[in-house]
Amino acid sequence: MANKTTNYVHWTSRWTFIMAATGSAVGLGNVWKFPYIVGEYGGGAFILVYLICVLLIGAPVMIAETLIGRAARTDPVDALLLLSKRARTTPWWSMIAIIGTMSGLMILMFYSVVAGWSLDYVVQSSTGNFVDATASSISESFHQLMLNTNRQLFYHTVFIILTGAVVAVGVTAGIGTAVRILMPLLLLLLLILVGYSMAKGHFMEAFHFMFDFDLTKFCPNPTTSGSIFALLRCEALLVAMGHAFFTLSVGIAAIMAYGAYMPEEANVGSTVLTVALLDTVIALLAGLAIFPLVFANGIAASEGPGLMFVSLPMAFSHMPGGQIIGTLFFVLLSVAALSSSISLVEPAVAWMEKKGLKRIFGTTIFVIAGWCGGVAVIYHTSVFDFLNKATSQFMLPMGALLIALFAGWFMQQATVREEIGIRSPLVYQTWLWTLRVISPLGIILVFADSFGWL
Ligand code: TRP
Repeated sequence: MANKTTNYVHWTSRWTFIMAATGSAVGLGNVWKFPYIVGEYGGGAFILVYLICVLLIGAPVMIAETLIGRAARTDPVDALLLLSKRARTTPWWSMIAIIGTMSGLMILMFYSVVAGWSLDYVVQSSTGNFVDATASSISESFHQLMLNTNRQLFYHTVFIILTGAVVAVGVTAGIGTAVRILMPLLLLLLLILVGYSMAKGHFMEAFHFMFDFDLTKFCPNPTTSGSIFALLRCEALLVAMGHAFFTLSVGIAAIMAYGAYMPEEANVGSTVLTVALLDTVIALLAGLAIFPLVFANGIAASEGPGLMFVSLPMAFSHMPGGQIIGTLFFVLLSVAALSSSISLVEPAVAWMEKKGLKRIFGTTIFVIAGWCGGVAVIYHTSVFDFLNKATSQFMLPMGALLIALFAGWFMQQATVREEIGIRSPLVYQTWLWTLRVISPLGIILVFADSFGWL
């Protein structure tokens, strides 16, 4: 540890790292994206594949990414440069972080627009727009928002400025404090919603939808459906894997940047697993809050990106105190989105800062670029689809693959072992070989399958 850069900022406690990493992981991905893709890909089988991906591919790579950051204690690009030099391998590994920065920018472009919808819903629920509203007027109001580009533009701008402001102020004061208080509150509110859904919605129907393993729905291919081959020829597989990375914030060196701020004594293995577990639980809870209402109100589960924005307001419209609970919910969702979006910006800014550019300027450049992309997203849904797909289904898995290979096969094993903090040799070896073989193979197979190479 002697040759570490020691003057880099540290978070003072392990909990701040957990909260920041959880803040990055838990966001629109859990509450908005996860339920709608589960709906589009038919439920149970999709969730099963997603869980397998989190466990065997996402979490091991997340651990690797974090320990790279902490081992080098500098921004992601320089971290990979430093560690590849120490391991006497090519400096080209640092491309992972450079491409990651671009992926972060591409995600920010649509993420900020959707977070803007959430801000719009804060206003709509607080002004009582959903009180006693009918199901059809609620779904109509989402479609109105989609047509109203000015309103979307306004909230997208507000959100991206907020993101930039937090990053510009700095990581410790801004993010650390906010997520510590607000994340537990979001969890509590989700539990209340699950309770409401259990009481008022079609809970059992939703439960079966989410947890019954039905291959025919996962992969509706008339020739092969129902057999295990259906699973092996299916876009849903790539979507599930891509989402595992998206929701954990893995594959673009974001968590690497956070790892650099992690205190020395924190155990990387168990800490990161805690974050992954919290993230998964919150996604499943969001599903259990949303689907019972979807089925009770006759909305199509495959409704698409509007699913959450339609089903939840229906609950708030009839709930006692729904105006307050609804407002609170969208406030917290917006905060969750904010604590995620800053991690899309931070790696790039940390890098520019290291290069001598002031934090505020680095942030401004990045955020303006993101804002322009968001404008394109608002005017053309095809841009939204492209950015969403290109990042989740290609760039994140690619980044994750390279990180797994670098940490598993090229980094100095002594450094890896020292940083990870897993004492049991058996557990360590299990993680190492999962990272070395299972995760890369899994990613390659899913790629091969979706490009039709199998
Ligand atoms: N994980 C966040 C969510 O689920 C999105 C996100 C934030 C992200 N930072 C990231 C995704 C970095 C990939 C990489 O909403």
